[in-house]
Amino acid sequence: MPMSHFSAPVTQADPLIAQALGKESERQRDQIELIASENIVSRAVLDALGHEMTNKTLEGYPGNRFHGGGRFVDVVEQAAIDRARSLFGVHYANVQPHSGSQANLAVFYLLLKPGDRVLSLDLAAGGHLSHGLKANLSGRWFEAHHYGVDADSEVIDYEALAKTARAVRPQLLIAGGSAYPREMDFERMGQIAREVGAWFHVDMAHIAGLVAGGVHPSPFPHADIVTCTTTKTLRGPRGGLILTNKEDWFKRLQSAVFPGVQGSIHTQVIAAKAVCLGEALQPEFRDYAAAVCTNASTLAAILKDRGIRIVSGGTDTHIALLDLSSKGLTGKQAETVLERANITSNKNAIPNDSPRPPEWVGLRLGTGAVTTRGMGVAEMVKLGHLIADLIEAEAGAVASGANDAAVAQAAESVAALCDAHPIY
Ligand SMILES: Cc1ncc(COP(=O)(O)O)c(C=O)c1O
Repeated sequence: MPMSHFSAPVTQADPLIAQALGKESERQRDQIELIASENIVSRAVLDALGHEMTNKTLEGYPGNRFHGGGRFVDVVEQAAIDRARSLFGVHYANVQPHSGSQANLAVFYLLLKPGDRVLSLDLAAGGHLSHGLKANLSGRWFEAHHYGVDADSEVIDYEALAKTARAVRPQLLIAGGSAYPREMDFERMGQIAREVGAWFHVDMAHIAGLVAGGVHPSPFPHADIVTCTTTKTLRGPRGGLILTNKEDWFKRLQSAVFPGVQGSIHTQVIAAKAVCLGEALQPEFRDYAAAVCTNASTLAAILKDRGIRIVSGGTDTHIALLDLSSKGLTGKQAETVLERANITSNKNAIPNDSPRPPEWVGLRLGTGAVTTRGMGVAEMVKLGHLIADLIEAEAGAVASGANDAAVAQAAESVAALCDAHPIY
């Protein structure tokens, strides 16, 4: 093996990949990130992710591994477990799931048999594909039923949910989603689950950082089991967590993750999870979580003032969901014009939207990343007006042609905002 194997940086070793990595760094530096599932991790999290701990293969759990040489990974995994337990106030944490979907799969493996019934939030009302979409294993191997939101308020209709639960009698009731902007009533849902004899699973992937920061009610003590990603508002690496207080499930849950649905652990990601959980335990994280919500409600208020309909009328979280039909646009058209001005977001279904993604009229905005960049209320006011200007220009362009001048002007303001809030 030439010595360059251990010394050549990627810029020398692989120019194609190095160039794409460099361009991605520039892209992140020069754009405003509003995708609700994204954030900007700390340098410390990046250090852990890029560490040679990635070379270590291990199966099993701290102190009980199938391979030798795991003593330092044991330190890291135990720290991640202890920090997750103390952050969310629970007895048991499994930090091994490679992603949020894998964490959910392990819960299914633990609690259900193929053919069992699950009841989860409808995808069009903000649910997630790993909660029973037909095209996902969760919908193919389990019988999925869904609850939705009230047609007027666009908030979960708990009475209707209780009625559906009594009719379906699911084995598992799932709360949580990827585009639901409102606080969820975990206490009410826990009561419904117990009434119909279902286990209650909360997937708090999006709001984990808000729960950790004390600005969204915790799913405990109402949930039997909770999953989340460490990405999104928790501001960590790509990966999942499982949390529970049920002592009698510990052993079976450990085996549901390994060897149930996974093999060896992603050692360097577990180190990065430990770092992000340590950060979330600091008092500053509470200020961050509060600022995320204030920023989202400010952004939503400006857009509403500018005549853009906000699904459910506002937000309690980091998410504002826009209904572009009020401006005669699809979500895709809005996403594209924003991206031309270096604002990144994503088209999304809104309640009762078309089943075809190109026809969706929703646009999802999230404030996790901009808040990490240090942007606050003043910047959200500016950004809200920039977004409204772009949407109006695009709506005008549909009728009359060009919107290049509006895009160029917005792009200049975006560059100034990014320069004032540098990353890394
Ligand atoms: C509610 C919810 N659960 C699960 C996931 C899946 O996470 P992953 O993409 O890490 O599999 C997501 C991702 O957006 C999500 O929003």
